[in-house]
Amino acid sequence: MITIIASTNRPGSSTLKMAKYYQEQLQEKGVEANLLSLENLPPNLLQTDLYGKRSPEFSEIQKLITDTDKFLFIIPEYNGSYPGVLKVFIDACDFPESFYDKKAALVGVSSGKYGNIRGIDHFTGVCHYVHLNVMPLKLHISAIHKEFDKNGQLLHADTLKFTDEQIDKFIKF
Ligand SMILES: Cc1cc2nc3c(=O)[nH]c(=O)nc-3n(C[C@H](O)[C@H](O)[C@H](O)COP(=O)(O)O)c2cc1C
Repeated sequence: MITIIASTNRPGSSTLKMAKYYQEQLQEKGVEANLLSLENLPPNLLQTDLYGKRSPEFSEIQKLITDTDKFLFIIPEYNGSYPGVLKVFIDACDFPESFYDKKAALVGVSSGKYGNIRGIDHFTGVCHYVHLNVMPLKLHISAIHKEFDKNGQLLHADTLKFTDEQIDKFIKF
Protein backbone atom coordinates (compact mmCIF):
# COMPACT_ATOMS: atom_id res chain seq x y z
CA MET A 1 0.00 0.00 0.00
CA ILE A 2 1.18 3.49 -0.93
CA THR A 3 0.63 6.63 1.18
CA ILE A 4 1.51 10.17 0.12
CA ILE A 5 2.36 12.44 3.04
CA ALA A 6 1.78 16.17 2.56
CA SER A 7 4.38 17.16 5.13
CA THR A 8 3.04 20.43 6.52
CA ASN A 9 0.01 21.48 8.57
CA ARG A 10 -0.12 24.93 6.92
CA PRO A 11 -3.65 25.60 5.60
CA GLY A 12 -3.73 26.23 1.83
CA SER A 13 -0.23 24.81 1.30
CA SER A 14 1.35 24.23 -2.12
CA THR A 15 2.60 20.97 -0.60
CA LEU A 16 -0.95 19.62 -0.43
CA LYS A 17 -1.59 20.73 -4.03
CA MET A 18 1.50 18.83 -5.15
CA ALA A 19 0.49 15.78 -3.08
CA LYS A 20 -2.91 15.76 -4.81
CA TYR A 21 -1.18 16.07 -8.18
CA TYR A 22 0.99 12.99 -7.46
CA GLN A 23 -2.08 11.07 -6.24
CA GLU A 24 -3.95 11.87 -9.49
CA GLN A 25 -0.98 10.93 -11.65
CA LEU A 26 -0.51 7.62 -9.83
CA GLN A 27 -4.22 6.93 -10.32
CA GLU A 28 -3.91 7.66 -14.07
CA LYS A 29 -1.18 5.00 -14.15
CA GLY A 30 -3.54 2.56 -12.40
CA VAL A 31 -2.00 2.84 -8.92
CA GLU A 32 -4.12 3.80 -5.90
CA ALA A 33 -2.45 5.89 -3.17
CA ASN A 34 -3.73 7.21 0.16
CA LEU A 35 -3.10 10.84 1.03
CA LEU A 36 -2.29 11.97 4.56
CA SER A 37 -2.02 15.71 5.10
CA LEU A 38 -0.30 16.69 8.33
CA GLU A 39 -3.06 19.32 8.62
CA ASN A 40 -5.17 16.40 9.83
CA LEU A 41 -2.97 15.46 12.78
CA PRO A 42 -4.71 15.71 16.18
CA PRO A 43 -4.51 19.41 17.16
CA ASN A 44 -3.04 18.59 20.59
CA LEU A 45 -0.59 15.96 19.29
CA LEU A 46 2.21 17.30 21.51
CA GLN A 47 0.14 16.49 24.59
CA THR A 48 -1.77 13.43 23.37
CA ASP A 49 0.53 11.34 21.19
CA LEU A 50 4.19 11.54 22.17
CA TYR A 51 6.28 9.28 24.42
CA GLY A 52 3.91 6.34 24.75
CA LYS A 53 0.60 8.23 24.74
CA ARG A 54 -1.93 7.47 22.00
CA SER A 55 -5.22 9.23 21.14
CA PRO A 56 -8.00 7.50 19.17
CA GLU A 57 -7.44 10.03 16.34
CA PHE A 58 -3.74 9.20 16.03
CA SER A 59 -4.44 5.45 16.34
CA GLU A 60 -6.25 5.68 12.98
CA ILE A 61 -3.23 7.45 11.45
CA GLN A 62 -0.85 4.91 13.00
CA LYS A 63 -2.85 2.09 11.39
CA LEU A 64 -2.48 3.77 7.99
CA ILE A 65 1.29 4.10 8.52
CA THR A 66 1.62 0.50 9.74
CA ASP A 67 -0.27 -0.80 6.70
CA THR A 68 1.81 1.28 4.24
CA ASP A 69 4.93 -0.16 2.64
CA LYS A 70 5.78 2.73 0.28
CA PHE A 71 5.69 6.40 1.26
CA LEU A 72 5.91 9.47 -0.93
CA PHE A 73 6.79 12.55 1.12
CA ILE A 74 6.12 16.02 -0.35
CA ILE A 75 8.21 18.31 1.85
CA PRO A 76 8.23 22.13 1.85
CA GLU A 77 11.27 24.18 2.79
CA TYR A 78 10.78 25.96 6.12
CA ASN A 79 13.74 27.96 7.41
CA GLY A 80 16.24 26.03 5.36
CA SER A 81 15.01 22.57 6.31
CA TYR A 82 11.91 20.36 6.53
CA PRO A 83 8.96 21.44 8.73
CA GLY A 84 9.10 20.73 12.46
CA VAL A 85 5.65 19.14 12.31
CA LEU A 86 7.09 16.40 10.09
CA LYS A 87 9.66 15.49 12.75
CA VAL A 88 6.98 15.56 15.47
CA PHE A 89 4.89 13.23 13.31
CA ILE A 90 7.81 10.79 12.83
CA ASP A 91 8.56 10.93 16.57
CA ALA A 92 4.89 10.16 17.36
CA CYS A 93 4.77 7.07 15.13
CA ASP A 94 5.55 3.64 16.61
CA PHE A 95 9.29 2.93 16.47
CA PRO A 96 10.82 1.02 14.77
CA GLU A 97 8.02 -0.83 12.97
CA SER A 98 6.34 2.18 11.29
CA PHE A 99 9.10 2.68 8.73
CA TYR A 100 11.60 -0.18 9.20
CA ASP A 101 12.69 -1.78 5.89
CA LYS A 102 10.02 0.13 3.97
CA LYS A 103 10.51 2.45 0.97
CA ALA A 104 10.15 6.18 0.35
CA ALA A 105 10.39 8.76 -2.42
CA LEU A 106 11.04 12.41 -1.54
CA VAL A 107 9.95 15.64 -3.26
CA GLY A 108 11.14 19.04 -2.01
CA VAL A 109 9.18 22.23 -2.75
CA SER A 110 9.92 25.85 -1.97
CA SER A 111 8.98 29.37 -2.96
CA GLY A 112 12.71 30.20 -3.12
CA LYS A 113 15.40 29.04 -5.52
CA TYR A 114 16.56 25.76 -4.06
CA GLY A 115 13.55 23.44 -3.86
CA ASN A 116 14.40 22.37 -0.30
CA ILE A 117 17.68 20.65 -1.22
CA ARG A 118 18.92 20.95 2.36
CA GLY A 119 15.64 19.88 3.97
CA ILE A 120 15.50 16.81 1.74
CA ASP A 121 19.08 15.96 2.75
CA HIS A 122 18.20 16.45 6.44
CA PHE A 123 15.11 14.26 6.11
CA THR A 124 17.07 11.60 4.19
CA GLY A 125 19.27 11.31 7.30
CA VAL A 126 16.18 10.68 9.44
CA CYS A 127 14.90 8.10 6.91
CA HIS A 128 18.22 6.24 7.04
CA TYR A 129 18.13 6.25 10.84
CA VAL A 130 14.70 4.55 10.88
CA HIS A 131 15.77 2.14 8.07
CA LEU A 132 13.41 3.67 5.53
CA ASN A 133 15.00 3.10 2.10
CA VAL A 134 15.03 6.29 0.04
CA MET A 135 14.70 6.14 -3.74
CA PRO A 136 17.77 7.78 -5.33
CA LEU A 137 15.77 10.08 -7.64
CA LYS A 138 14.65 12.97 -5.41
CA LEU A 139 13.00 16.08 -6.90
CA HIS A 140 13.56 19.70 -5.87
CA ILE A 141 10.89 22.04 -7.16
CA SER A 142 11.63 25.75 -6.70
CA ALA A 143 9.27 28.74 -7.19
CA ILE A 144 6.39 26.37 -6.45
CA HIS A 145 3.84 29.24 -6.60
CA LYS A 146 4.54 29.47 -10.38
CA GLU A 147 4.04 25.76 -11.09
CA PHE A 148 0.25 25.24 -11.07
CA ASP A 149 -2.65 26.41 -13.22
CA LYS A 150 -6.01 27.15 -11.60
CA ASN A 151 -7.04 23.47 -11.87
CA GLY A 152 -4.02 22.25 -9.91
CA GLN A 153 -2.22 20.96 -13.03
CA LEU A 154 1.50 21.54 -13.58
CA LEU A 155 2.35 24.18 -16.19
CA HIS A 156 6.01 23.64 -17.00
CA ALA A 157 7.33 20.97 -19.37
CA ASP A 158 10.44 20.14 -17.35
CA THR A 159 8.49 19.68 -14.09
CA LEU A 160 5.98 17.46 -15.90
CA LYS A 161 8.83 15.37 -17.33
CA PHE A 162 10.72 14.93 -14.05
CA THR A 163 7.63 14.21 -11.93
CA ASP A 164 6.49 11.65 -14.51
CA GLU A 165 9.89 9.95 -14.45
CA GLN A 166 9.91 9.92 -10.64
CA ILE A 167 6.38 8.45 -10.49
CA ASP A 168 7.30 5.66 -12.94
CA LYS A 169 10.42 4.83 -10.92
CA PHE A 170 8.44 4.95 -7.65
CA ILE A 171 5.90 2.45 -9.01
CA LYS A 172 8.75 0.04 -9.86
CA PHE A 173 10.78 0.77 -6.65
C1 LIG B 1 7.65 28.81 8.47
C2 LIG B 1 8.03 28.96 7.02
C3 LIG B 1 9.37 29.02 6.67
C4 LIG B 1 9.75 29.12 5.33
N1 LIG B 1 11.09 29.10 5.00
C5 LIG B 1 11.45 29.07 3.69
C6 LIG B 1 12.81 28.91 3.31
O1 LIG B 1 13.70 28.74 4.12
N2 LIG B 1 13.11 28.91 1.98
C7 LIG B 1 12.15 29.05 1.00
O2 LIG B 1 12.48 29.02 -0.18
N3 LIG B 1 10.85 29.18 1.34
C8 LIG B 1 10.48 29.20 2.65
N4 LIG B 1 9.14 29.28 2.99
C9 LIG B 1 8.16 29.42 1.93
C10 LIG B 1 7.65 28.03 1.47
O3 LIG B 1 8.67 27.40 0.71
C11 LIG B 1 6.40 28.28 0.62
O4 LIG B 1 5.34 28.58 1.51
C12 LIG B 1 6.05 27.18 -0.34
O5 LIG B 1 4.76 27.47 -0.89
C13 LIG B 1 6.03 25.77 0.22
O6 LIG B 1 5.37 25.73 1.45
P1 LIG B 1 3.78 25.41 1.61
O7 LIG B 1 3.60 23.99 1.23
O8 LIG B 1 3.53 25.70 3.05
O9 LIG B 1 3.02 26.32 0.68
C14 LIG B 1 8.74 29.20 4.33
C15 LIG B 1 7.40 29.16 4.69
C16 LIG B 1 7.03 29.03 6.01
C17 LIG B 1 5.56 28.92 6.36
